[in-house]
Amino acid sequence: MSRRKLAAGNWKMNGLTAQLDEVRALAAAHPAPSVGVLLCPPATLLAPMAQALRGSAVTLGGQDCHAAAKGAHTGDISAAMLADAGATHVILGHSERRADHGEGNAEVAAKVRAAWAQGLIAVVCLGETEGQRDAGETLAVIGAQLAGSLPDGATADNTVIAYEPVWAIGTGRTPDGGQIAEVHAFLRKNAPDPAMMLLYGGSVNPTNASDIFAIADVDGALVGGASLKAADFGQIVTALEQA
Ligand code: 13P
Repeated sequence: MSRRKLAAGNWKMNGLTAQLDEVRALAAAHPAPSVGVLLCPPATLLAPMAQALRGSAVTLGGQDCHAAAKGAHTGDISAAMLADAGATHVILGHSERRADHGEGNAEVAAKVRAAWAQGLIAVVCLGETEGQRDAGETLAVIGAQLAGSLPDGATADNTVIAYEPVWAIGTGRTPDGGQIAEVHAFLRKNAPDPAMMLLYGGSVNPTNASDIFAIADVDGALVGGASLKAADFGQIVTALEQA
């Protein structure tokens, strides 16, 4: 299968119903994108966003799911609930979940299995801290996260990998092109399916998107802050279309 491209937005803990106008504007500006466009809003906005985007090419994802199918897990959300609300994807193993909620690779892998069981595509995040990069451990860390976070059965159809260096998230700092290329080449070589989409994430914006998309083995981006504004995210979608 040939590789595809994806511009994905992670709204994190941002977004109220008033922001639905932004997604309507995004969908109107990009009625027929030649790349995949995915928005991952907070769970409260999934259903209304699905409604607002009905008939558009923009797809929706959750930001996390529980590893269990259902049950006594107050405050958590299941993969079935995400799918029921209109999601086709779910971000799993984001560094903010790994750090804030102590999620390890085995828990991420269990969540990936739960997502697959509901037909969701898992967007699995990997990335080194600044200390790990400075210590020369980047590829070892990424390799361990890759091996531990992806269950057997991961394919380009059910899984997307997002390389997000922790030190580049929300900081305005991005790795240089060689650093991104090195990790993406490693992922291309070591991913269980060489056709798997490999996204870069961390301070992607309309200004740097084209340069990042020109790097070998970068199939798209997972965008945080710049995905909240239709105009900014739209420019990133266009940059990916033109890459
Ligand atoms: P920023 O684009 O805000 O740096 O966030 C990246 C990210 O964590 C996306 O998941």
